[in-house]
Amino acid sequence: MYDFFIVGSGLFGATMAYTLKNRGYKCLVIDKRSHIGGNVYTENMNGINVHKYGAHIFHTNNKRVWDFVNSFVEFNRYTNSPIANYKGRLFNLPFNMNTFYQMWGVTTPEEAATKIEHQRNEFGVENPQNLEEQAISLIGKDIYHTLIKDYTEKQWGRKCTELPAFIIQRLPVRFTFDNNYFNDTYQGIPIGGYTKMVERMLESIEVRLNTDYFENRKYFDSIADKIIYTSEIDRYFDYCYGHLEYRTVSFETNLLEGVSNYQGNAVVNYTDAETPYTRIIEHKHFEFGQQPDTVISQEYSKEWRPGDEPYYPVNDDHNGKLYAKYKALADAQTKVLFGGRLAEYKYYDMHQVIEKALVLAEKIINTH
Ligand code: FDA
Repeated sequence: MYDFFIVGSGLFGATMAYTLKNRGYKCLVIDKRSHIGGNVYTENMNGINVHKYGAHIFHTNNKRVWDFVNSFVEFNRYTNSPIANYKGRLFNLPFNMNTFYQMWGVTTPEEAATKIEHQRNEFGVENPQNLEEQAISLIGKDIYHTLIKDYTEKQWGRKCTELPAFIIQRLPVRFTFDNNYFNDTYQGIPIGGYTKMVERMLESIEVRLNTDYFENRKYFDSIADKIIYTSEIDRYFDYCYGHLEYRTVSFETNLLEGVSNYQGNAVVNYTDAETPYTRIIEHKHFEFGQQPDTVISQEYSKEWRPGDEPYYPVNDDHNGKLYAKYKALADAQTKVLFGGRLAEYKYYDMHQVIEKALVLAEKIINTH
């Protein structure tokens, strides 16, 4: 018998397992994949740590979470500074003085602010009704048409005029020459990859890979006092109210032998409509790699169908209501606790998932 049976070895499951094990609880972790780590898994290709399920950059303001991850591996000084490529013209992101200089040739914050203000006033929509109107009224037409419109339409598979305004509440604009994408105090990439970090979290804990909870549900339900479930919530309840929807991404990953530096940056967004992918990731740059080869991944954003990898929850009314019904069922369970991005049907960054797991583990420890 185990004290805790944990479905999923992603950051939520691994953080729970590590914290509970340290308090003397006996845990079993399973994962249906052939590896640990969930979506943060990195795979070594020709000495390069490839982010198998999309680029993962760790950033947080939470010192406790930062100290927690740094207790397993050292982090490097990587700072996310994406480049946008619009039909061959390059721009720095997020929108900052470098972007404004590249767009208009303006050199002072005052000139940039005046330019943006002029375009906002020219547009003159007081009550934006869709994403396009919202974006132009926040940042003006030039930045919208060059850096937002086509990229957003590729991401969502819908016209910006058909997307709700609330998706963009505000657009981060900086009137300094600062290309750092995040505002957080702490940022970096684990030296040696995320897999190494999760391996250390799960050290001396029993883990069974290639093991799907649903293939042996009765057995797994009987082997522990409590279950921590990090897989899809709708599946747990046999889709009794229907499927929750997601956006998914497919990755085309290629090893380029003999190419030591393909694009000079880890992240390049393609903000035009003609390029079918949204961005290219060159993995070695996350760790300042000096290998003779390189690995790149093109990312294609796609409509999700049941069976596809569920990546981004769809935050609309229909899915919100559906999730609320599943959550009511989950809350009524006494033996099972639901957590993580799939079980809570919520986009979480890594630091948020770790924080949530630390809080839940603490609550269990205090009450168990
Ligand atoms: P996760 O999905 O990682 O783990 C769940 C695990 O459960 C998986 O290993 C799965 O195989 C397993 N499982 C599912 N069903 C099962 C079953 N039936 N039986 C057994 N096992 C089962 N965050 C950030 O901070 N910075 C970033 O740059 C990014 N980038 C990013 C890019 C993309 C494309 C995505 C989709 C997400 C990000 N994230 C991110 C978010 C990050 O990926 C996320 O916060 C964590 O991976 C969530 O960890 P979980 O443990 O909740 O889920």
